[in-house]
Amino acid sequence: MKVNGTPTRTIWLAEDGHTVEIIDQTRLPHHYEVTQLTTLGDACRAIKDMLVRGAPLIGATAAHGMALAMRGDPSDVGLTTAYDRLFATRPTAVNLRWALDDLRARLTPLPPEQRAAAARARAVEICDEDVALNESIGDHGLAVFRTLWQRKGKPERFNVLTHCNAGWLATVDWGTALAPIYKAHDAGIPVHVWVDETRPRNQGASLTAWELNQHGVPHTVIVDNAGGHFMQHGMVDVCIVGTDRTTSTGDVCNKIGTYLKALAAKDNGVPFYVALPSPTIDWTVRDGVAEIPIEDRGPDEVQCLWGRLESGETAWITVTPEGSPAANPAFDVTPSRLVTGLITERGVCAASAEGLAGLFPERAAA
Ligand code: MRU
Repeated sequence: MKVNGTPTRTIWLAEDGHTVEIIDQTRLPHHYEVTQLTTLGDACRAIKDMLVRGAPLIGATAAHGMALAMRGDPSDVGLTTAYDRLFATRPTAVNLRWALDDLRARLTPLPPEQRAAAARARAVEICDEDVALNESIGDHGLAVFRTLWQRKGKPERFNVLTHCNAGWLATVDWGTALAPIYKAHDAGIPVHVWVDETRPRNQGASLTAWELNQHGVPHTVIVDNAGGHFMQHGMVDVCIVGTDRTTSTGDVCNKIGTYLKALAAKDNGVPFYVALPSPTIDWTVRDGVAEIPIEDRGPDEVQCLWGRLESGETAWITVTPEGSPAANPAFDVTPSRLVTGLITERGVCAASAEGLAGLFPERAAA
């Protein structure tokens, strides 16, 4: 995607061939800043403090983090330490474990002196693969949108509601839920996006709105509680979200608040799609509510807000009274029965064990 007209990914190697560069997403939308990662500690902090976020980008950063770690200590102990420290950064997005398992399996049989180069090459490959997977999701999602738009008689405005940020900022490029939106916009379907602000961190208001602006996609930011109202009034044609972990049975874990949108969509007959690349499927888990670890990010993000003051400076402000506790589960699980379909790189399937096994028979059988 483009930033001020320049094609840009969210993570890349600097000219020296080993320093990793990322867009610091904690500074958007008010500041566009590129940050360098040179050590394992830098990569861990970038994921934990959410300079990078979104399941696929967390996985890609972890892969690069392994490569940075191998430059410092390529021994077996160094490999285990890097795996453990990166794994501990965030618990919910399964792409993190997927990338770390992939790197560890490839690096373990190699002599230590070959590990840094091999890890770097694989990290670059994982990034390139992510771009291809997401573009393919975009193509399949475009077909879904086109069908829905045509069935409605090609209205002048095709209203899509999305939650959190599952755009190119959450991946290496394209995004998952936003890839079909970009494809549809470019194909001439008159897409308009309702952007849930997504409290507490406002990934919708700050990140999704920013990247839709960069691409010129018409959109409107709404508070998280408005989606149901717009659905009741026929102003949402389809919902589409990303996911941090989808079970082998089609339960979808995503940003807190996704479940409520899916309930409202069901009550109003609005199709509810989830876009995901296959590394986001956790084939070891069947019951999303019971088995997926939900990140608890502590009270500060609920009690405070970050934004730009009239002076132009950015600052944190406190919105709750002194002494009021706050709870902050970062994700929730939408049961498969509320999901109309899963849009993957291999096509669209039912959110069910049978649906996923039909598209990924080799994984379901393993
Ligand atoms: O806490 P975040 O910002 O990492 O949460 C991101 C999401 O919930 C996304 O919807 C999900 O990772 C899918 S990204 C393609």
